Amino acid sequence: MRPELAAKYDVRVPRYTSYPTAPHFSPAIGAERYAEGLDELPPDMPLSLYLHILYCAEMCWFCACNVKITKQYAPVADYLEYLWREIDMIAGLVPDGMRARHIHFGGGTPTILTPADFTATVERLRERFHFAADAEVAVELDPRTTDRDYVRAMAACGVTRASMGVQDFDPAVQEAINRIQPYDITARVFDWLREEGVTEINMDLIYGLPRQTVPGVVETIDKAVGLAPRRIALFGYAHVPWMKKHQTLIHESELPGIEERWRQYEAAAARLGEAGYVAIGLDHFARADDELALALAGRRLHRNFQGYTTDEAPALIGLGASGIGSLPQGYVANQPEVHRYKDAIRAGHPATARGIAVGDDDRLRRALIERLMCDMAVDIGAVCRDFDADPGQFAEEMAALAPMEADGLLVREGMRIRMTEDGRPLVRAACAAFDRYLKAGETRHSKAV
Ligand SMILES: C[S@@+](CC[C@H](N)C(=O)[O-])C[C@H]1O[C@@H](n2cnc3c(N)ncnc32)[C@H](O)[C@@H]1O
Ligand code: SF4
Repeated sequence: MRPELAAKYDVRVPRYTSYPTAPHFSPAIGAERYAEGLDELPPDMPLSLYLHILYCAEMCWFCACNVKITKQYAPVADYLEYLWREIDMIAGLVPDGMRARHIHFGGGTPTILTPADFTATVERLRERFHFAADAEVAVELDPRTTDRDYVRAMAACGVTRASMGVQDFDPAVQEAINRIQPYDITARVFDWLREEGVTEINMDLIYGLPRQTVPGVVETIDKAVGLAPRRIALFGYAHVPWMKKHQTLIHESELPGIEERWRQYEAAAARLGEAGYVAIGLDHFARADDELALALAGRRLHRNFQGYTTDEAPALIGLGASGIGSLPQGYVANQPEVHRYKDAIRAGHPATARGIAVGDDDRLRRALIERLMCDMAVDIGAVCRDFDADPGQFAEEMAALAPMEADGLLVREGMRIRMTEDGRPLVRAACAAFDRYLKAGETRHSKAV
């Protein structure tokens, strides 16, 4: 792609991990509606669970996640007690007989838990939510706080996938983002995981960070490929200092410009392709025989709050402060602030802070956006047939994509859209044409590339 196009489409658009997107959730949907929604779930519907472990030992300056920093274990132990109470409460609200198929520990840093606490949490979940025999249990690891005992505990309680935060291997970049993580620490955790039989390993990398250069990013990719993770997530750094005050510690003068960001992405993606990784959607890469790549080939790829996934469960339960859930009836988000979260659990009701009911038009647009985000293509006629809807209603949206087509970023054929390889990193801008809630300038998101 011509680098100037990255600048031209440098619109701030959502990442479409849901539709409608989180800024449109409202306090009108609270604990009561959520409890009703859980009660109405059909008992044979597969469940997914997301647990938010809020705490980290140190603040990485780039971080846009909902985290709290602690040097002591007491706040973590206290939080965990509430999490367990929430697990018990929510399990009591879902119909008997439901089975959990995907369980994801995110954060924050799940590896901040002691191995015993992690094991006890998995056991409690297993007891209350009944894991399916082939359930995927995934855990986000910070290699800096992962020790051998933790890895052993993970393997012993049935963890099937580990996702590791790395970001960049260059010490100068690590210094600029306050995340010192020598290569050997990461490599050691890879060895431990494999020795214990946890072979499904993902790695998170970021481009667009301060002090990053094209050759530096390529070097990081080569080191990452050398460790042979099954999947690599390559995120564009989201600089949102108006939401995350600590990001002001990152010197904007050291941040690469939009065109440089684009060159970094392009060079990294090319290198990953040469190394045999298949590009998945906007920001994931997977080995060709990985489930994610197979799901892409079979048009079964999905997108949820954790990004690209093979998870097809129509009900996702979010646990912990800021945990987001998705039910057939709509979305809900827990209180992000720990004291409010605890107040709700202490009062004996779900910690729902906001949500949104999903109507027929939302479901249709969500399906269009999901196909575009996942397949880089969508057949509007085919999706409309599934929803018994008239594709003609999207004439305006199709017309709005003309400039992107003229710039070689996508192709329109009748009611079909296909992103070109150049257009892939700008797919969010194409999805935005179908977003009924997005009004120019209403909410601020991160850059499209
Ligand atoms: C919860 S962390 C992963 C687990 C663990 N806390 C760690 O950092 O190793 C989730 C991932 O989100 C990504 N991330 C966080 N803040 C980001 C930002 N501002 N822009 C892009 N990616 C970001 C990072 O790649 C990070 O590894
Ligand atoms: S990147 Fe991970 S370890 Fe760093 S502050 Fe964010 S959640 Fe914590």
